Amino acid sequence: MTDADFPADFRWGAATAAHQVEGGNVNSDWWDFEHDPGSAAVESSGDAIDHYHRYAGDFALLRSLGHNTHRLSVEWSRIEPAAGEFSTAALAHYRRVLTALVGAGLTPFVTLHHFTLPRWFAARGGWLAPDAVDRFGAYCRQVGAALGDLMPYVCTVNEPQMLALHGYLEGYHPPGLTNPVLWKRVGGVLLDAHRRAVRAMRETSPTSSTGLCVQIPSLAPIRDEPACHALYELMQHELVDRYLDGVTGDWLGVQYYRKQWVGPASPTYFAAPPPDFPLTQLGWAVYPDGLRQVLHHAAQRTGLPLYVTENGIATTDDQERVDYLDGHLAAVAAARAEGVDVRGYLHWSAFDNFEWSEGYRPTFGLVAVDRTRDFARVPRPSAYAFGRVAASGRLAA
Ligand code: NOJ
Repeated sequence: MTDADFPADFRWGAATAAHQVEGGNVNSDWWDFEHDPGSAAVESSGDAIDHYHRYAGDFALLRSLGHNTHRLSVEWSRIEPAAGEFSTAALAHYRRVLTALVGAGLTPFVTLHHFTLPRWFAARGGWLAPDAVDRFGAYCRQVGAALGDLMPYVCTVNEPQMLALHGYLEGYHPPGLTNPVLWKRVGGVLLDAHRRAVRAMRETSPTSSTGLCVQIPSLAPIRDEPACHALYELMQHELVDRYLDGVTGDWLGVQYYRKQWVGPASPTYFAAPPPDFPLTQLGWAVYPDGLRQVLHHAAQRTGLPLYVTENGIATTDDQERVDYLDGHLAAVAAARAEGVDVRGYLHWSAFDNFEWSEGYRPTFGLVAVDRTRDFARVPRPSAYAFGRVAASGRLAA
């Protein structure tokens, strides 16, 4: 028998986020954005995939598919529906959810903030309000005190750079702004929010291991010209390195999807992929070796243990997902063999779900969900292929 590609204690699973799967998240800034005809959002999240009621069956299914870990988020707008008013019922709901998760044999990774804000928080200026970080810290303390014993791994803030980019430079997420000054400012606030959340967890839930989840694209200048190189340096700093340099906590979550080219042609600094590059349903350039490269970069820059907390593909052709998984899992195994301390791989996503402004068209799930027929869950061949690697610790032959 040859050596396995991954150790027996490797964390295998998939990720979701509350707003994308639960349904009926009506007290959030996202709900308002979806229902604003002038916004970038194409449809309402509505019932999502009704995970709010179906979580127990969902966790049992993921366990049966070979997962040993699962990442989800708790929803701030449910837990604190009005400023300073914490919902005992919402916290009790998440206690039932996390108890079911552990009972199913899955280790929880719990995200405290995954893009959505309570309506009241957004209305008073969102992340740019003077006391935003204090308010977030108070929420984190409540969650830590109520649920800490069920949160062995806590992710503070999901993809702060993407929230800042989409919400404040591209106008593609709430609050829908296109302001380069606020874009950079809010990034600093979100880093402060992360550090405050780490402190809140240390104080209220000392057994939790806490980290930040950052998306790290593989960036490159579109042309070998000084203007392209300068913009590449700017984006590498604003999207990646300032976050890696500012991180505190016990581990880093690396979220990797694609290669992106930077150039001066567009106001948001991204250029179209070169012709002939393989693209996903969302037009994202598939580049598996980029995952190996960004894992090296993240490890060198932070010195922290790493988990891949998201990686996946929107596609209508499940064979493309199988190939994407093969390529990216091989990249993780290669990084490990080269000495990078990567301890887990969580695929985005467990289920088809609400892809923010793009709505339900992009399908990222290992498991398909039929939203027209009682939300039936149907695992795709890729779910079984992933399960075989998880169960054996060996890459597909
Ligand atoms: C990043 C985000 O964390 C997640 O919410 C989103 O659905 C995926 N990437 C795919 O875009």
